[in-house]
Amino acid sequence: MNRGSGATASVWMTKAEMPSRPALDKDITADVCVVGAGIAGLTTAYLLAEEGRSVVVLDDGPIGGGETSRTTAQLVNALDDRYFEMESMHGEKGARLAAESHTAAIDRVEAIIAREKIECDFERLDGYLFVPPGESTDVIDKELAATHRAGLMGVERIERAPLKRFDTGASLRFPRQAQFHPLKYLDGLVQAIEKKGGRIFNNTHAEKFKSGEPGQVTTSKGLAVSAGVIVVATNTPVNDWVAIHTKQAAYRTFVIGMPVPKGSVTRALFWDTPDPYHYVRLHDAGSHEVLIVGGEDHKTGQADDADERFDRLETWTRERFPTAEDVTLRWSGQIMEPIDSLAFIGRNPGDKNIYVVTGDSGNGMTHGTIAGILLTDLIMGRKNEWETLYDPSRISLRAAPEFAKENLNVAAQYGDYATAGDIEQVDGLAPGTGALIRHRLKKIAAYRDTDGTLYQCSAVCPHLGGIVHWNSAEKTWDCPCHGSRFDPYGKVLNGPANTGLGPAG
Ligand SMILES: Cc1cc2nc3c(=O)[nH]c(=O)nc-3n(C[C@H](O)[C@H](O)[C@H](O)COP(=O)(O)OP(=O)(O)OC[C@H]3O[C@@H](n4cnc5c(N)ncnc54)[C@H](O)[C@@H]3O)c2cc1C
Ligand code: FES
Repeated sequence: MNRGSGATASVWMTKAEMPSRPALDKDITADVCVVGAGIAGLTTAYLLAEEGRSVVVLDDGPIGGGETSRTTAQLVNALDDRYFEMESMHGEKGARLAAESHTAAIDRVEAIIAREKIECDFERLDGYLFVPPGESTDVIDKELAATHRAGLMGVERIERAPLKRFDTGASLRFPRQAQFHPLKYLDGLVQAIEKKGGRIFNNTHAEKFKSGEPGQVTTSKGLAVSAGVIVVATNTPVNDWVAIHTKQAAYRTFVIGMPVPKGSVTRALFWDTPDPYHYVRLHDAGSHEVLIVGGEDHKTGQADDADERFDRLETWTRERFPTAEDVTLRWSGQIMEPIDSLAFIGRNPGDKNIYVVTGDSGNGMTHGTIAGILLTDLIMGRKNEWETLYDPSRISLRAAPEFAKENLNVAAQYGDYATAGDIEQVDGLAPGTGALIRHRLKKIAAYRDTDGTLYQCSAVCPHLGGIVHWNSAEKTWDCPCHGSRFDPYGKVLNGPANTGLGPAG
């Protein structure tokens, strides 16, 4: 499939042929305009169409071309951040609602698949959480107690996770987790949305968002979608300039795929506890299985050493999964980490009829589904107990230290204005690579195409003026401040920026 978000390809992208829809070519109206055709946008569109609402979905790339095509597609209520941490941020009730909502999201995905007869390799399986070798297992015990307080009574402590050749030590077993093929699932949602009268447009960039009656989304071609409600499901909001972006941080995470003989690894999900942690699943590839292992995250735009990270993932995997063969897949993707562990889903701060979903962390399959359920209730005027927990306006005072840390890190990135370029002259730029060049007081993002043509843009991010950095693995310009990303020629790929890099001159 067409890669909308970087040069590497995930295990899903190498096979799936996603449906493609024409671009919007005239002004239209609808009850709801959803921007973003990833899991969050399409689930919301599907559930609203099921309620009889007329729905339009706009995406400026291919369907599922964002982070949903780069995921490892584990559906879990064993959340990235521990339940005992969740309790300290959101209280015992908040942790219980978080557990309940992620469990409900897995159930809802399963129900949609059954109802719409979507063939997407959905499978229920157990997940296992363990600590790195030699580390205290206190975290396991604390988490066990917290999961029970959160209502996940099926979680149990076992002697070791079921890895034949590696002793993980004490482990928590989370029952009834799940996995699927995310692009096959989205394909099924697309068919179901259209059967219910929904309209989907690709290659349609939403540029402006206006709250009011009706709300209006204006595209970069100047066309308008007028709608009673707008849902911005662009992974990171492109309609909000500051409020939410100080409460979350963008990280790049790395994944490898290695064939393993069928049956040599227990079909389950596996995670460990360091920060960043490792995440593991299997994918059935017919004659063999592919062991998929992720981790090695860094803040977006703040490192460019993907090869070393892929190598470290391989070493970690070989120690634990000795049947793994040569690495056949390497890809990376972006994760939005909220400072207080939970996604932001609900009414956009200050807007009457614009809703957002963001801050998925590594739980975007369930957070995206929760968004569909919660936003549908809010838009239909129904009460939902999860509303306050996921409210995008929330300020969690207990997350203040994390807030200060993230924003100090952002402030430090503006020091890039004063530093030298990566190279002195564009003459030294090899085909297929990019580098920053200093030209008097300006920083230029220079890229030499594989045919030798040189392209130069301003390196200043149009969001809030950070200096972008070259990402060699994905061949993109990534902003270290809030995670905006641009293709080698400066076209915007990820928000919060919603326009491309400016001219070099
Ligand atoms: C490597 C990796 C592994 C992961 N593993 C897991 C996992 O195992 N389990 C889990 O739950 N989560 C996981 N996640 C997280 C999860 O994949 C994401 O959170 C989720 O896919 C995000 O879905 P989304 O719909 O919010 O965004 P996306 O899928 O990114 O969709 C957003 C869409 O908006 C479109 N768009 C953006 N701006 C505009 C605009 N201005 N106009 C029109 N369209 C626009 C984009 O083209 C894109 O298609 C992982 C993520 C990564 C990167
Ligand atoms: S993403 Fe905010 S300044 Fe670039």
